[in-house]
Amino acid sequence: MAILKIARMGHPVLRRPADDVAEPTAPEIRALANDMLETMVDAPGVGLAAPQVHVPLRMVIFRVPLTEVESLAGGDAPLTVLINPVLEPQGEEMEENWEGCLSLPGLRGLVPRYSHLRYHGLGLDGEAIDRTVDGFHARVVQHECDHLDGILYPQRMRDLTGLIFESEMRHVIAETRAREQAQAEAEEQ
Ligand code: NI
Repeated sequence: MAILKIARMGHPVLRRPADDVAEPTAPEIRALANDMLETMVDAPGVGLAAPQVHVPLRMVIFRVPLTEVESLAGGDAPLTVLINPVLEPQGEEMEENWEGCLSLPGLRGLVPRYSHLRYHGLGLDGEAIDRTVDGFHARVVQHECDHLDGILYPQRMRDLTGLIFESEMRHVIAETRAREQAQAEAEEQ
């Protein structure tokens, strides 16, 4: 196991489409997944794509709650290793929310993503993974799999005024709170 160097925006490996993993069950793919996990935990992050550690292969890892019960329980979400993923947005509905990326350290962006997503691919034992998910889970998978096509989240943004430094997020939080409070007061009247 090793902590790998993370490629940052501007490195060509983040711009090129990645190649299919020819042998998902090969020992070197498992070793890569282990190194990616260690790198992601160290960073820390909730997801990481192989191109981010300078390996142009179609493989992502992420840790998100798989069910609402898990989400409420808190703690470490289970790890998914997803190889050669295929994404199928379910419907046209999209939602905007804040994202960060280990390849754009210190930044946050307001990014539209499909609300409902089916994705399928293979796990490390060659087993089929096929899930239909929503919200945060769907967002993480879309973000990570974009890395496999050479796309970083600012390229998905509709309005670059939503690209800010993480250190300024407190202003966004304060503005959101003030807006929600004003809304609640308006509803009371
Ligand atoms: Ni990313």
